[in-house]
Amino acid sequence: MSTTMNKPVIGILGAGKLGTTLARLSTQAGYPTLIASSKPASKIALAVSVLAPGAQAVTAAELTSQAQIVILALPLGKYQTISRQGLAGKLVLDAMNYWWEVDGKENIFSTPTHSSSELIQEFLGESTVVKAFNHMGYHDLDAEVGQGKDGQRKAIAIAGDDAATVRQAAQLVTDFGFDPVILPSLADGIMLEPGSPLFGADQPKAQLQEMLAAFPESKLGKEISTSNQDS
Ligand SMILES: NC(=O)c1ccc[n+]([C@@H]2O[C@H](COP(=O)([O-])OP(=O)(O)OC[C@H]3O[C@@H](n4cnc5c(N)ncnc54)[C@H](OP(=O)(O)O)[C@@H]3O)[C@@H](O)[C@H]2O)c1
Repeated sequence: MSTTMNKPVIGILGAGKLGTTLARLSTQAGYPTLIASSKPASKIALAVSVLAPGAQAVTAAELTSQAQIVILALPLGKYQTISRQGLAGKLVLDAMNYWWEVDGKENIFSTPTHSSSELIQEFLGESTVVKAFNHMGYHDLDAEVGQGKDGQRKAIAIAGDDAATVRQAAQLVTDFGFDPVILPSLADGIMLEPGSPLFGADQPKAQLQEMLAAFPESKLGKEISTSNQDS
């Protein structure tokens, strides 16, 4: 396990299946880690101590004020409860997906002409949103960390518009135990969402890049391989 020295505080909003898994990866990687749900911290403290030892259960308000990087792992349909002011100026990693069964049938996410992360970026106007950790199921994140079940390190695709924050997100993905694959823009995050062949991908980097390059928007293949040359 690495140390917490000089590492940013990671805040995970949502303490369910994905949130507790990411909290575990975060503490294992040596990041100081906060986690919250919509309830008082005492309601999740026991589960957090078992599922993500070392992570601290806090309220959502404490999390948004103290964390330097915030991962959104709550139901997408609840996005309007996220504190825009609390997250202003921060890097926000959006791991949320649209499930109509959970999030409702008729809303801004139900017609997939845009990546849901673009809509989250629009809502969180003063934060920088990068899409990450949305395409792999929580059980695979857990099982594949590091060298993976089959001895092959697996990849997590990330999509964002701001090069500096995308680099930060890529570092986090690396530290959590995966290879980052960088998409050229936040809008390209639509290729990682439910309904896309990429959704659910649990693949090494080269295979994930091949899958991305096979998209009809084939120019993306070229851009993706260029932007990943050094990573
Ligand atoms: N499960 C996966 O494998 C997976 C993989 C990739 C992405 N995702 C996405 O990640 C998100 C979470 O999925 P999940 O499977 O972890 O769901 P989940 O197990 O139902 O957990 C959702 C968590 O969010 C909390 N929550 C609900 N409303 C909230 C709010 N307004 N503010 C803060 N926290 C809130 C819930 O607690 P309270 O209701 O008590 O507040 C709960 O702790 C979804 O958008 C999902 O599509 C899931």
